[in-house]
Amino acid sequence: MADFPDNGRKMTKDNGIPMATRRTSVHGEWSSRFAFILAATGSAVGLGNIWRFPYLTGENGGGAFVLVYMLCVLGIGVPIMMAEIMLGRRGRQSPINTMRTLAQEEGRSPSWQYLGWMGMTAGFLILSFYSVVAGWTLAYVFRTASGVFTGATADGVQSIFSSLIADPERLLAWHTFFMVMTTMVVSRGVKSGLEQAVRFLMPALFLLLLLMVGYAMNTGAYDQAIDYLFKPDFSKVTGQVVLSAMGQAFFSLSLGMGAIMIYGSYLSHTASITRMTFIIALMDTSVALLAGLAIFPLVFAYGLQPQGGPGLIFMTLPIAFGQMPGGAVFGSAFFLLLVFAAWTSSISLMEPIVTWLVENKRMTRVKASTLAGGAIWLFGIGSLLSFNLWSEYKLFNKTFFDLTDYVTSNVMLPLGGLLIAVFAVWRMSAESSRSELGLSDGFGYRVWRFLVRYLAPVAIILVLIQVTGILAWVTGRS
Ligand code: TRP
Repeated sequence: MADFPDNGRKMTKDNGIPMATRRTSVHGEWSSRFAFILAATGSAVGLGNIWRFPYLTGENGGGAFVLVYMLCVLGIGVPIMMAEIMLGRRGRQSPINTMRTLAQEEGRSPSWQYLGWMGMTAGFLILSFYSVVAGWTLAYVFRTASGVFTGATADGVQSIFSSLIADPERLLAWHTFFMVMTTMVVSRGVKSGLEQAVRFLMPALFLLLLLMVGYAMNTGAYDQAIDYLFKPDFSKVTGQVVLSAMGQAFFSLSLGMGAIMIYGSYLSHTASITRMTFIIALMDTSVALLAGLAIFPLVFAYGLQPQGGPGLIFMTLPIAFGQMPGGAVFGSAFFLLLVFAAWTSSISLMEPIVTWLVENKRMTRVKASTLAGGAIWLFGIGSLLSFNLWSEYKLFNKTFFDLTDYVTSNVMLPLGGLLIAVFAVWRMSAESSRSELGLSDGFGYRVWRFLVRYLAPVAIILVLIQVTGILAWVTGRS
């Protein structure tokens, strides 16, 4: 275990009151608050919004899922994001070392560091399948540009997708390409390239998405899509739907595994965590809803199944690209931006692992990222084979890909979020959290504290219990 000489213990005094330790991160700091917002938004906005949100909405029956999702973002996601950024900024190290330091400072058990371990593992697992899907996106940049979708029918588009995922070699090539891209950026330090990339690409993605919504509005089954997304059918709300919605809130906001914690650790002490969190959550949610509005009108207009699964966007959007004038160029630009969105997200999934290797194993960044990237790449092969050679191998009726996704999003992230919440308000003193959040003991702070103290933990625990079936057993139903 390494103790960096300059990772902390600089006691400073503010207004004569002894403040907690003010550390500086050995890995550096964002150049501005705006840079943090960009990077955190870059982490949040990704395949989760444009690929995962629409397909989960379809699988979970539409409006009810969307509503529960938004409630989870507001009531659980936002307060936990504030807590996670706060812990990161206070600890200023990799999640494992941050949790160890903060636990020590607050006189708590050193076991809190395992929260960091779980987060690191979750990041590893998520990135392993995320990269496979990002690989599909890469493939589609070229596929769309080649014009194969011009005039294609729904069936034609579907068979193009099926033939891609049936071919392990092609998937491997794209998965490898994407992992190399991610490893390269992480090895150079997330702050150098990332800020620039996000500054231009995020607005561009937003714009193209708006254009897609406009197109879908004019040509697709718009009213039906609006009804589907925003008229909740409460009979469809089951424990599974609530769990998926909560898991998606964590996934989409990049919460519960230390990614936002590590980004928070590069944040300057003067920035308002509350304001930043609201901006990030708002942008993330808007992108997800826009993606839904772009995709579902096409789903209904072409008689596709909303429950099309992970391939949904790859089987719907190309139909539109095939029919609109200039669709090949427009479509490949869209997929290219999606690649960038996935890239800025995957960087944040790898960052906690790399910072830990640098801090504790004294590796150079390049060596640490190569090692992490290589291991994740290898594990990801399991996910890419789930669509072809291994499609018959199932555990709990789920393929390797489905299982990795399910366990990380629906169990590990909420559990990580729960522990972050418990630590931030039950284990950390109110003075510590208040001073780090930069809030006075007013209404805002109290609301935050209430949500993180009671609402979020209780909600997460109930949902997790419900899903393990204990609740059903206790209440004697089924
Ligand atoms: N939020 C990203 C997306 O929506 C994915 C992601 C990046 C993530 N970092 C994370 C998910 C950390 C969970 C935890 O695509």
